[in-house]
Parts: sequence; structure tokens; C-alpha cells
Amino acid sequence: MVYKTVRLTDGRTAMLDWLREDELSEVVEALNSVIREGKYLFMNNEITDIEEERRWFERGTKEGMRYLVARVEGRVVGGASIHPHTDKRAHVAEFGIYIRDGYRNLGLGTTLTKTFIEIAKKHGLEILGATFKVAHTWFPPLR
Ligand SMILES: CC(C)(COP(=O)(O)OP(=O)(O)OC[C@H]1O[C@@H](n2cnc3c(N)ncnc32)[C@H](O)[C@@H]1OP(=O)(O)O)[C@@H](O)C(=O)NCCC(=O)NCCS
Repeated sequence: MVYKTVRLTDGRTAMLDWLREDELSEVVEALNSVIREGKYLFMNNEITDIEEERRWFERGTKEGMRYLVARVEGRVVGGASIHPHTDKRAHVAEFGIYIRDGYRNLGLGTTLTKTFIEIAKKHGLEILGATFKVAHTWFPPLR
């Protein structure tokens, strides 16, 4: 049972589901394709160390990270996540999102963002922030 099914504006269906460790390679491949474009993400270098990625996944899971993977026709086409801060900033989480070239402007980014606003509220978070290539941005407080 997937977390959410989304109808894209071109009529295709995207499935959103929680990231599993056994799909890290596919997710890294999708993320690397966006990193290679070189103009969007704050990450400059492709991810090559899958063991490090596994450690990141384990650490993130312990820290309350929530990560949804989007698939169209079985292919990973993007993902989004929230990663809460700790202690005094436990009400704040970092939001990240990427959609693979060829699957943009079909409504997926909007749906993922709205979905995470709801997930964040459900978990008592009050503020989401995002790191872009040039700056860190705060979204308006969640209500
Ligand atoms: C930005 C991104 C997440 C949006 O997802 P999407 O599925 O393409 O977005 P949607 O189809 O839901 O919405 C498209 C809207 O976002 C706008 N948009 C798309 N990319 C944009 C960008 N880089 N900057 C500003 N607006 C953008 C479109 O113009 C469109 O606006 P409209 O609804 O007024 O017509 C996606 O295009 C993407 O991953 N881009 C490359 C990586 C990136 O920029 N990630 C975010 C920075 S960390």
C-alpha cells in the first residue's frame, strides 16, 4: 500500500512512498542526475559512496527524517524529505526536494511540498527551511 498516489497533469500516475534502504541506489541515481545538471541543488558533487549513503539513511531515520520517494511507471523520478533539528530547534525541520528532468512542471513538486507541510504539522513541527544553491530560505510558519 503506497503512501499516496498522485495524478500528474500529463495523465500519468506517480506513487509516493517512504524511502527504504534497499532503494538507496535508485534514489541516488535520480538525485545524481539532478546534481549533474549543475544549476539547482546546493550539492556540487555526485554521490558515489553508497555505504556512506546507508549511514546517512540510518542516522536520518534515528533523527526523525521522513523521506518520500516518487515513482512513475516504476522509475524513481524524484523525492522530498524533512529532517528535524534537535533540542531548542526541534520545532524546525529542513525541507529538501528534487524532481528529475522530464518529470517537472507536472504538479509533482507542488504535491510533494503540500504533503510535507501536512506531515510536518502532524509531527508538531512549526517551521520548514530549505537550502538552495545560493541561500537558506525559510518558509512561512506552519499553521
Ligand atoms: C523545483 C521543483 C522541485 C518543482 O517541482 P515540479 O514538479 O516541477 O513543480 P510543479 O509542476 O508542481 O509546479 C511547477 C511550478 O513551479 C515553478 N517552478 C519550477 N521550477 C522552478 C524553479 N527552479 N524556480 C522557480 N519556480 C519553478 C513552475 O514555473 C510552475 O509554476 P506555476 O505553477 O505557477 O506554473 C522541480 O522542478 C525540481 O526539482 N527542479 C530541479 C531541482 C530543484 O530546483 N530543486 C529545488 C531546490 S533544492
